Amino acid sequence: MSTTVDQFIPGEKPWQALSKLLLRVGLMMSVSLVTIGWYPAPASAAPIIPNPNELVQVVQEIESLDAMRSGLAASLEGSTEVPTMQTMKEVCRPVGMRAMQLSQEHGWQVKQVAKKYRNPDHAPGNLHDQMALAKFNQEPELIGFWDRETLDKQLGTRYYRRMDVEASCLACHGLKERRPQFVKDGYPHDLAYDFNVGDLRGMYAVFIPDDIQKAIQNAVN
Ligand code: HEC
Repeated sequence: MSTTVDQFIPGEKPWQALSKLLLRVGLMMSVSLVTIGWYPAPASAAPIIPNPNELVQVVQEIESLDAMRSGLAASLEGSTEVPTMQTMKEVCRPVGMRAMQLSQEHGWQVKQVAKKYRNPDHAPGNLHDQMALAKFNQEPELIGFWDRETLDKQLGTRYYRRMDVEASCLACHGLKERRPQFVKDGYPHDLAYDFNVGDLRGMYAVFIPDDIQKAIQNAVN
């Protein structure tokens, strides 16, 4: 390539020459890639996430939500008082309520999903849910990922975050017979017991529609 010298025009700033050179090299590379056939379609666009800031916010909110549950469960575990009905209830239900609140405030769909669920609202809802759970099961190191999906005919981004069982969870998700009475009474079809520390408990799944403004409008109306 005899590019550098013969393209240097007197009076031209070095960076101008450099950017021309880079442009030329870039063009040549893309032309050769097209001819080699690496691009599935000519001029295919780079993948984009339409609402990157929303995604950042989702990740942060889910971390807070998860920390809230762990904190509540740990406080129960450490306490010397006999847990009352009220304190027993104050661990996972507030998480569900906060998830609902986040959905309404932001136009997202915030869900908890588990294969062995206690509340039937948290059963896997579609094939994507099942695949994400299987992926977390197969990859214990995987904390979270996102994907482009269509949900209820809307295009958007879905964020998934794993949830593992901690020692403090076993008070209510451990042995079947040891579950608190309010769980036995309130969830007759409960599947969320007999877990061990480190098991995959489930995941958070958050859908961010591309048309977020419309989603917020719908949530308000
Ligand atoms: C004091 C009892 C209690 C403790 C401790 C507890 N949970 Fe729960 N958990 C529940 C109840 C009750 C529900 C059902 C709540 C509802 O109706 O939405 C639930 C539901 C869940 C769900 C939603 C999916 C489902 O099965 O319905 C997840 C996920 C979950 N718990 C994870 C955890 C994790 C992780 C911990 C430990 C950090 C934990 N839980 C500790 C009582 C508890």
